[in-house]
Amino acid sequence: MQAKTIREQFIQFFEQKGHQQVAAAPIVNKDDPTLLFTNAGMNQFKDYFLGHKHAPHPRAVSAQPCLRVSGKHNDLEEVGADTYHHTMFEMLGNWSFGDYFKAEAIPWAWELLTAVYKLTPDRLYVTVYGGDKGDQLGVDQEAQRIWEQLIDKSHILLGSKKNNFWEMGDTGPCGPCSEVHVDIRSAAEREQVPGHTLVNRDHPRVVELWNLVFIQYNRLANGQLRALPAKHVDTGLGLERLAMVLQAKKSNYDTDLFTPLIQAISSISKHTYGQSTAIDMAIRVMADHVRAVTFAIADGQPPSNVKAGYVIRRILRRAVRYGYTYLGFEEPFMYRLVSVLVQQLQTAYAHLKSQQAYIEKLIREEEEAFLRTLATGLQRLEKLSQALPKESTVIDGSTAFELYDTHGFPIDLTVLIARERGLQVDAVGFAKALQVQRQRSRHAAAVEKGDWKKILDKPSSTFVGYDQLEANAHVVQYRMTKVQGQPRYQIVLDQTPFYPEGGGQVGDTGQLRLGKDILKVLDTRRENDLIVHEVAQLPSDLGVPLQASVDKAKRMHTASHHTATHLLHAALRQVLGLHVEQRGSLVNEKYLRFDFSHPAQLTHREIRAVEALVNEKIRANIALTEYRQMTLAEASAMGAMALFGEKYGERVRVVAFNPTFSVELCGGTHVPATGHLGFFKITASTAVAAGVRRMEAVVGAAAETLIHHQLALLQTLRGMLKQPKDLEKGIQQLLKDKASLGKQLAAYEAQQTQVVIDQLHGRFKKWNDVRYLITEVTLSNASALRQVAAALQQVTTEPGFIVITADIDQKPYIAVALTGDLENTWGRNACDIAQALAQPIQGGGGGKATLATAGGKLVQGLPRVLSLAEEMLRTTPQPV
Ligand code: SER
Repeated sequence: MQAKTIREQFIQFFEQKGHQQVAAAPIVNKDDPTLLFTNAGMNQFKDYFLGHKHAPHPRAVSAQPCLRVSGKHNDLEEVGADTYHHTMFEMLGNWSFGDYFKAEAIPWAWELLTAVYKLTPDRLYVTVYGGDKGDQLGVDQEAQRIWEQLIDKSHILLGSKKNNFWEMGDTGPCGPCSEVHVDIRSAAEREQVPGHTLVNRDHPRVVELWNLVFIQYNRLANGQLRALPAKHVDTGLGLERLAMVLQAKKSNYDTDLFTPLIQAISSISKHTYGQSTAIDMAIRVMADHVRAVTFAIADGQPPSNVKAGYVIRRILRRAVRYGYTYLGFEEPFMYRLVSVLVQQLQTAYAHLKSQQAYIEKLIREEEEAFLRTLATGLQRLEKLSQALPKESTVIDGSTAFELYDTHGFPIDLTVLIARERGLQVDAVGFAKALQVQRQRSRHAAAVEKGDWKKILDKPSSTFVGYDQLEANAHVVQYRMTKVQGQPRYQIVLDQTPFYPEGGGQVGDTGQLRLGKDILKVLDTRRENDLIVHEVAQLPSDLGVPLQASVDKAKRMHTASHHTATHLLHAALRQVLGLHVEQRGSLVNEKYLRFDFSHPAQLTHREIRAVEALVNEKIRANIALTEYRQMTLAEASAMGAMALFGEKYGERVRVVAFNPTFSVELCGGTHVPATGHLGFFKITASTAVAAGVRRMEAVVGAAAETLIHHQLALLQTLRGMLKQPKDLEKGIQQLLKDKASLGKQLAAYEAQQTQVVIDQLHGRFKKWNDVRYLITEVTLSNASALRQVAAALQQVTTEPGFIVITADIDQKPYIAVALTGDLENTWGRNACDIAQALAQPIQGGGGGKATLATAGGKLVQGLPRVLSLAEEMLRTTPQPV
């Protein structure tokens, strides 16, 4: 049974049981500060479980790409080493939001596995939560009893908190779980060792297939469990493992989900899979990692230096490292696998196809950059391990940090390479060094969060800010947080006019008035489905009705820039072509920044054309048309493009300014008609990444200010040039004059240099057989000093030693020249001598063996340079 069919049958089975199919969420988690990546199908439903939101359907089913590479669920180290863990995997799941519970969830799972997928009951084992003292919970007897109706008692095992209590992260919804494990060993092996002894023992062919979680609690920040208002079901079945079982394979990598990738890697590398342990592992790492990186980029998270982007970069680098070391790939190769993956998964995940070229380009560039540093980094590591004292097996933290900092080696990569050489890495020392660096760059904006405290028991966060900037509201819940040690509070209202940061648009600011208290709203953000208002203090009474007012001027300027972004997007597509797609955007009250796909730098003419088109649309004063409740299909029919990396609900909002010009899916706020923008001006056009360009622009008052400043600057320049008729000509004349003065000056300096040379000619002295000249000179630039030394070098062919110094604009300079064979007789060249002489001026220099110069910081040291030179002359062995 192909993976595609397995996926479809799962969905169909639960659809028949009244479940609504829900689209997968992006693999990158943008709205939940507790999680970088989607690590389970349930993430997108978190607020339903916690009771913050009502689920639109009581039952749901989905196939969800998940990434377990950071935080509580991190399998990265296992990936490739074994045959059944992955960075990115697909989780098939069914959910009940306060609807059915164990009595349905368990028998349905059993029915699907045994009646639809036809697994042999004898090969299945189930685990049930055995309780935990710390959490004051007992054995899940309810689940136990239900299983006893379905499967032989000897196949039911009790499990620990570690295996049978599922938690999404350090905080959040959780509950006891029951897992189904499968034993796919041969009959002989099963005869020898009974399957139940291998459950949860990391056996590659006795593996967990499906986890049925009974969500009943919320894990609080203080570690305690709080019962949730309703009971829910959250299940997750690993598609790759199920495919292994149903396709009668011994490893996930032998299923049709991986074989095309493995074949591609084999044919590119000319290494056959299944011949050598190390090579096989490298091939698995690559086949796995390309999936994670591709999905992450397609969902809007390119590799980068921070947070989620850095995790993706590490995954990619891990693959490159394996390819380089074990398969001999010295050129980029991962990007060549993207097409294979897209070909395979495009029916289930159509967005991969439309992003393919972009993903390939990004991966390729990333690979090129890393391959460049990999070779030098590996050499450095090699040297280090050889230089370690015999008895030491630990690479110290600062070295690991150097590898990280200058060679871009993620610490897990260093650990891995070290491990292959039988060495360890001082992880604590590394962490310390990293911490010091972080503190230095003051990026560690530590945010601690308390638990939500309910004030009102009602749904929250209805957004009314499209139509009004003020609203009466109530506090539904609040919590305390700390930002860099400073207390802050977060407040959630039943309804709010405050726009939460999203879609590139900044969050609103403004105030909440509760009785006599006025709270300044410093920022508004979205956290899953909650709209969170950030304030610095709490009011005396949180229970009173309040008035929420948005800062109108700021919102108005921000909305103008948001509308301008839409016009810019449409204009770019019209001027440059339909390949232009949004890659990122920032909109605030001061300006807009828009990133888009386009292969080349924009010409002047193109920029002008875009600007002119936007301004034309502003002057046409096109009214906003807004559709708040369209289906995605209706929106696409109107021409609205879904942005990659965005999750859209069942109903979408469409914003159009003339449906034949600009139609976009957008949750942001806009002006009623384009005329409000006044005037549009592009202020920057740059490159941000391969194939991605960036534009910055301003409209309205911000554009007016910009133009005002530019005109004022012109006015000032006119004034400085005594009001010339033609400013351009005036400046040209100025530049001409400057050039001719420059020439005169150069001629004068050359003359001066010649005078100095002539004066010094006759001032050579002799010490034994060495002719020497050690003196200070007066010159106006450093290159003249070198010229003088070079000219003096021509004076004699006998052994000679020339040291001249100069104070040029309060900076000390030295020139050293040697003649004859002095360099050999003394055994010191001019560079060494210049270095030594530069000590008193705290400087350094270089040059050629017979002519070198040095500069320094301490002009007072110059006399000492001269006396040092004299000493050197007198103490250096004399020519024979
Ligand atoms: N959330 C559970 C898991 O990830 C079941 O889906 O295992």
